[in-house]
Amino acid sequence: MTRTLTLTRPDDFHLHLRDGAMLQGIAPESARDFARAIIMPNLVPPVVTGTQAAAYRTRIMEAIGEADFTPLMTLYLTEASDPADIIAAHKSGLITAVKLYPAGATTNSDAGVGSFEKVRATLDAMAEAGVPLCVHGEVTDPAVDIFDREAVFIDRVLDPIRRATPGLKVIMEHVTTADAVAYVQSTASGLAATITTHHLVINRNHILVGGIKPHYYCLPVAKRENHRLALVEAAVSGDPRFFLGTDSAPHSDDAKECACGCAGCFTATNTMPILAEVFERENALERLEPFVAHHGADFYALKRNAGTLVLERQDQPVTFPAKVDTGAGPVTVFDPGFAVHWRVAPTN
Ligand code: DOR
Ligand code: ZN
Repeated sequence: MTRTLTLTRPDDFHLHLRDGAMLQGIAPESARDFARAIIMPNLVPPVVTGTQAAAYRTRIMEAIGEADFTPLMTLYLTEASDPADIIAAHKSGLITAVKLYPAGATTNSDAGVGSFEKVRATLDAMAEAGVPLCVHGEVTDPAVDIFDREAVFIDRVLDPIRRATPGLKVIMEHVTTADAVAYVQSTASGLAATITTHHLVINRNHILVGGIKPHYYCLPVAKRENHRLALVEAAVSGDPRFFLGTDSAPHSDDAKECACGCAGCFTATNTMPILAEVFERENALERLEPFVAHHGADFYALKRNAGTLVLERQDQPVTFPAKVDTGAGPVTVFDPGFAVHWRVAPTN
């Protein structure tokens, strides 16, 4: 018997859509299931100004065509960012948030922040105007082990920023550790976290045991199993401070499968079925809708979506395309490594 689950149409609160031929190829993958997404600004060159965000938004709308999908734009914070430009772009509804990349932390983050003192005035202005800050939470200190970089960031950077700018609304993006979950849980207001699909599924063994798996390599890198379990517990808990941000980050296969492969897992195509499987295993299917469609909208003070998405459980495992072909090359779709019985019901 086919079991169905009808959800408020979900939002993706952390998404890389890229540009050019890659954007054309992968935008429909998110627009199919999601109503809105927070669009990451780490293009080359980055989306720093309101003018650049408006132009990028136009290119995204062209790539999406007729689909019912709203890109929620962000600006890339640099030490030279103009607070007045940020505030004006937010006030006009052009942008939804600002993204902080520590310089050198990840893909296209060279223009990010090196000295947090240099962005203090901008963060103060954002707090005053109610502009949310999305944070890539990893230190870049070469002395800090890559598996410790998120936990160290909380103590060295995030907590000091939040203490110095108490009114700032912060989203800790793609949390990967029990430490980050505990930090978010310890705060009364003004802080939330996104959790990706892939970090609910893989730990560091999946990347490294039995040969290196480039399509499981992303940043922040997946940690030990106890951390994955903490993320699953947070996601299915019903705590409104945790919500979906896939960090679906496409790179062409040749950029992943090489001596120095790029970071990023591409989950846009099969995120909703994988999440249904994860939540079902935890006996928490009723918590899927709040995680994907309520908590994020509420934290960002956006209206919840009006439409619905129907998921169907099949007796037999469902198959997904192994790759999405784009004009920028094939992109491998995330393989959760277990059977998925859910699919998004066709709309007609
Ligand atoms: O794995 C990742 N890929 N993490 C990031 O922070 C950036 C992203 C990308 O842009 O490829
Ligand atoms: Zn990202």
